[in-house]
Amino acid sequence: MKFLVVGSGGREHAIALQLAKSERVEEVIVAPGNGGITGTKITTIAISEQEHQNLADLAREKHVDYAIVGPEVPLLAGLADVLEEAGVPTLGPSQKAALIEGSKDFAKQFMKKYAIPTAEFQTFTDYETAKAYLDKQGAPIVIKADGLAAGKGVVVAETMEIATIALKDMLLEDKFSKAGEHKVVIEEFLSGEEFSLMAFVNGEAVYPMEIAQDHKRAYEGDKGPNTGGMGAYSPVRHIDSSLVDTAVRTVLEKTALGLVQEGRPFKGILYAGLIATEEGPKVIEFNARFGDPETQVVLPRLESDFASLVADLLDGKVPDVRFKTEGTTLGVVLASSGYPGDYETGKPLKRLADLTDEVHVFHAGTKAEKDGAFVSNGGRVLLLQTEAESMNAARAKLYKEMEKLDDPNFFYRMDIGTREE
Ligand code: AMP
Ligand code: GLY
Repeated sequence: MKFLVVGSGGREHAIALQLAKSERVEEVIVAPGNGGITGTKITTIAISEQEHQNLADLAREKHVDYAIVGPEVPLLAGLADVLEEAGVPTLGPSQKAALIEGSKDFAKQFMKKYAIPTAEFQTFTDYETAKAYLDKQGAPIVIKADGLAAGKGVVVAETMEIATIALKDMLLEDKFSKAGEHKVVIEEFLSGEEFSLMAFVNGEAVYPMEIAQDHKRAYEGDKGPNTGGMGAYSPVRHIDSSLVDTAVRTVLEKTALGLVQEGRPFKGILYAGLIATEEGPKVIEFNARFGDPETQVVLPRLESDFASLVADLLDGKVPDVRFKTEGTTLGVVLASSGYPGDYETGKPLKRLADLTDEVHVFHAGTKAEKDGAFVSNGGRVLLLQTEAESMNAARAKLYKEMEKLDDPNFFYRMDIGTREE
């Protein structure tokens, strides 16, 4: 089999490596990939995720059997539709189905209609009305800009002052949206453990993966601004498996069925960001794709053949989805100093070559220099990942290697996985 993987982050690196493990896979083409995405059977090609027609042409020329689209932006722009029209079965939803991620307002209205458990909410476009609602609800409260904002359009406000500033930023300024298109969702603050539940979905058929826990805030102790994710681990044993089963039924299965009923059948990875509240699991967000960095800790735990799984799912067969039950997989992100705000790129990753094979490196924002060394080229630079029999052992092993990357140009969180110890 030949696969095309679209995207350029650590997630796509993990997808490509997992595909390449399969004996049935002859080649994995990653477009555009990044300097660090290399390996046997893996080739990268410099076609960006916006070049839909070029990607479809490439897939046909290279006789690609299946495509996997990693990021949300091309999905929301309709890349899966273009690939499917070109006859390439694609793991990634249509533009219509991807709206479950693309619009928080759509997702909230959808959940209300299909009685999918989520935080109470209201949507506003007018500042005065929104402010009146805010005053009535009080803090803590959550303010979300509608539309994609790479995790940055959400403010969890502990105080009314913070909430009011966020509301002004989102409704009166153009910080989070194009001019004139202001919409916010104000929602109830949910307290409880957060976890990520992803599933392989084709229409009504839902095949869940092991759960993972991401660490979204930039700094230790869950302080600082929201990021794309600073580290993750899987499985999450302190979250009850019966609660996860409930989430599969009340969230994933209902969502897949609801999307079919709405005429937006979903084919791809459905990701539910959930909070385990006292009343059971509730949705805080949906993504229409694999999570990043969750994928880097979940996919390597797959015991069944990933390529066959994807092929079967897309061919409408029942895929074999089995995960390791033993051990823990941990991943820690190395980010550029300043991320998720402004940061500089082109900083050398001096000791990358000194890392032992105790850890795996997933490249996200890196660039290969002529001499084979790597420099930084993004906010999230790379992720180190390892597996061990316990979280304690995994943390010891991983942070020992991570130390080799200590450098004022970069930072990472020391507390990834500590909730599981
Ligand atoms: P989102 O982009 O919707 O995933 O939100 C980013 C982060 O904000 C989430 O990962 C949560 O940690 C937090 N968050 C979002 N919505 C809520 C909520 N209703 N209650 C508590 N925390 C939330
Ligand atoms: N790690 C969260 C996300 O992929 O959206």
